[in-house]
This record gives sequence, C-alpha cells and structure tokens, in this order.
Amino acid sequence: MADLKTNFAGIESPNPFWLASAPPTNTGYQVMNAFRAGWGGAVWKTLGKPIVNVSSRYSAVSYKNSKMMGLNNIELITDRSLEVNLKEMKEVKEKFPKHALIASMMFETKEEWHDCVKRCEDIGIDGFELNFGCPHGMCERGMGSAVGQNPDVCEKITSWVTEIAKKPVIVKLTPNVTDITKPALAAQRGGANAVSLINTINSVTGINLDTMEPNPSVNGLSTHGGYCGPAVKPIALNMLAEVKNHPDFHLPISGIGGIETWQDSVEFFLMGASTVQVCTAVMHYGFRIVGDLKEGLNEYLDSHNMKKVSDLTGITAKKLRKWDELDLNYKIIAKINSETCIGCQLCYIACEDGAHQSIALIPGARVPKIKEDTCVGCNLCSLVCPVENCITMIPIGGSKPRLVWANHPKNPDYDTKLVRK
Ligand SMILES: Cc1cc2nc3c(=O)[nH]c(=O)nc-3n(C[C@H](O)[C@H](O)[C@H](O)COP(=O)(O)O)c2cc1C
Ligand code: SF4
Ligand code: SF4
Repeated sequence: MADLKTNFAGIESPNPFWLASAPPTNTGYQVMNAFRAGWGGAVWKTLGKPIVNVSSRYSAVSYKNSKMMGLNNIELITDRSLEVNLKEMKEVKEKFPKHALIASMMFETKEEWHDCVKRCEDIGIDGFELNFGCPHGMCERGMGSAVGQNPDVCEKITSWVTEIAKKPVIVKLTPNVTDITKPALAAQRGGANAVSLINTINSVTGINLDTMEPNPSVNGLSTHGGYCGPAVKPIALNMLAEVKNHPDFHLPISGIGGIETWQDSVEFFLMGASTVQVCTAVMHYGFRIVGDLKEGLNEYLDSHNMKKVSDLTGITAKKLRKWDELDLNYKIIAKINSETCIGCQLCYIACEDGAHQSIALIPGARVPKIKEDTCVGCNLCSLVCPVENCITMIPIGGSKPRLVWANHPKNPDYDTKLVRK
C-alpha cells in the first residue's frame, strides 16, 4: 500500500485530503466528525471581525439529472465570535494532534492580522491560510478578492503575516483575475510558504421566471455570488497548471475546485497540487466521501507502482503547453464501431450542422459512415455519441516528423523563425 502521509510546506497530515474553509469547517463538532471519518486536515471557516449573514444564501445550477452541478453562495466568513472559534479549534487540536488544522483568516489592519496570528499559534494550530478570495461582501470592505486582485496589496498583506508567523502561511487565491500567476508570484514575494487555489468564481446562477428575481433571493433582491462545485473543476485545473508551470513560481500548491471523486483528486495532483481541499462535495454528500477518496487514490498509486502522493505531483502540468508547441502533423479521424452503434444518428447531426459534414447516412443502413477524406478529427461525434467507446479516434498518416507553427509554411514569419522542436 502506498503511503498517503503528506508534508505540505511543513504542515503534516495523515493524508492529502483537507476540508476547504467553508460551512463544513464551521464548528469543532463538524471538524472532529470529519477527522473521525478520515479527513487528513481542515481549513477552518475564515476568522475575522464580526459579520452578519443574509437569508437565503445559496443557489445552484442543476444540469438535467445532476443536482448541484454548480453551487453559488453569497455567504460571508464565520458569523461566530473569535473566542468561540479559538476555543473549539483548541479542543480539536488536543483531540486530533496528528491532523492538520489550518486557520483561515481575513482582516483589515496589520494589528488585527498580528493579533489573530498570535492567538491561533497559542492554541496550537498548524498553519494559516490567508483568504484573499471571498468575492462578495468582504471585497467591498477592502478584503477578500479585493486583495487577491491587486498583486501589490497581496504581497504587502502576505508579508504582514509572514513577518510574525512561526507556522507556515498559505495564500488562498481568487480566480476572478485575468492572470492568476500575478497574485501567486506576489504571495511568493510576500514570503508565503504555499498557495491554494481556487476560491469561488463570480456568478449569477439563474433567475426565477415567475418573480423575475435573481437567485438566491434575499427579500426580492440578490447579489453576485461565488461559484464552485463540479462545474468549476476545468477552470481550477487550468489555473493550477498556469501557476505550477510558471518558471519563477516554486511553492507547493493546495488544489481546490470541484473535487468530488478520487479521480478528480488524482487529476489535481497530476496537474501540480500537493494536497487537495474539498467543500461542495462534502456539503452535498457528507464527510463519508473521504473513504472512497483515500481508497481510490491508494489503489491508483499502487497500480502505477508509486509509493507516495508526491510521486504524482505535476506530471501532467509538464504536458500542458502553449498552443504553438503542438504538433500540426498529427492527424486523427473518427471510426464507428458498427457492432455497438445503436443508429441514433446524433453523431451525424452534430457533424452535419456543427462540424465538418464528414458523416454520411447510408439509405437502409443503421450505422452512419465516416467520410475519411474530410474528417478533421475534431472529436465532436465521439463526444455526443451516447454509447461508450462506440466512436474512437484513430491516428492516420504514418509517422510524419513533428511540425509546430513556428516552422509551418503558412506562418507569415516562417522564413525568419528559428526551427523549434
Ligand atoms: C457556502 C460556502 C462558503 C464558503 N466560505 C468560504 C470561506 O469562509 N473562506 C474561504 O476561504 N472559502 C470559502 N468558500 C470557498 C471554498 O473554500 C472553496 O474554495 C470553493 O468552494 C471551491 O471548492 P469546491 O468546488 O470543492 O466547493 C466557501 C464556499 C462555499 C460554497
Ligand atoms: S471527428 Fe469531427 S469532423 Fe470527423 S466525423 Fe467526427 S464530428 Fe465530423
Ligand atoms: S452517435 Fe454513436 S450510436 Fe449514434 S449513430 Fe453515431 S455512432 Fe451510432
């Protein structure tokens, strides 16, 4: 069996599965239940100055039969007092000394940050996460994403914390930026020991067509919220890769955004994460999902003869390149398995109206025919086909040498460019 123990920027935990700072980490009662269920760490619901929450505060996008494909919230940080939170965090740490307990924080002044850092260290927490990502309510007050969107401020506030913190400092980044590497590098310059990403994405999930009010309604009005859950995973994976692949960025990354299954978590490790954090999946299915996460990861590592989670970190990030590094000589075409095809014609319609008119219907025949001479290998038909593996994509054209855009005759700068491999 592989060893799931993790050391993330100096923070040790029995496994890389942490709860993200959110409702599942509101109270000591919940975090203790989570640790009993098998979670390796928890980032406490963000501590800060007193706030008031609205009712209601969540809305969701459900797609066909999938409930809560994306979750939207307009809730703020903890609405309990700092004293109560610290008391419960201390109890958790005493009962679960080997689990990672991270204090998420958000304040306005340097003095407030310093005061909270000291009080958290006094009760024995293992690290800090600076919430520079909350996209509503707090940013209007100069906190949350207002910090994550301004690299200079991000660097400055990070350094306020790192100048006194004895425990590792993680900076949690907002995805509501054009270039996530800028705040990541700012956090690194500010002395952070790690970053985590992503926090939630600005969103409006929908409108009630009877009342014409946006969701979630607070007595007739709403505000934009933060989007998370399975729908955001592709955005999180891309941002993770951007940070991981930046040549000047060298810190460990905790991956967050839409993780629900062990396969999701493996994707985050492969793309560069060293630990992962989960919120929506736990709000949907409860703490128990960690059993499958651990078992699946363990078996995956064993099946690849890997001994520890860090063996996975970043393998795939290296394979995610700029478009102009891709091989223009590589060609594939679609192939239909006539044994399994049910003759639904979905592939035909998709290719005919939405792609390259490269599938023909043969009168009297159940199985459509691929026009191999015009098929561009776009994948669309295989994506719409309802039968698993019925349409596969087959490489053609032998093994032509790799050809990238810089060396392509159609490139107007062709003559002047150096040959790129
Ligand atoms: C209701 C709710 C409240 C949240 N509150 C916080 C918070 O207080 N601090 C924070 O850093 N992130 C907060 N988040 C963001 C999550 O920690 C996480 O970054 C985000 O939900 C993406 O992960 P997921 O797709 O697994 O949910 C909250 C998310 C939700 C859904
Ligand atoms: S791969 Fe694209 S172009 Fe080729 S048959 Fe399928 S949909 Fe048409
Ligand atoms: S979508 Fe798939 S099952 Fe339907 S006709 Fe095309 S190949 Fe056959």
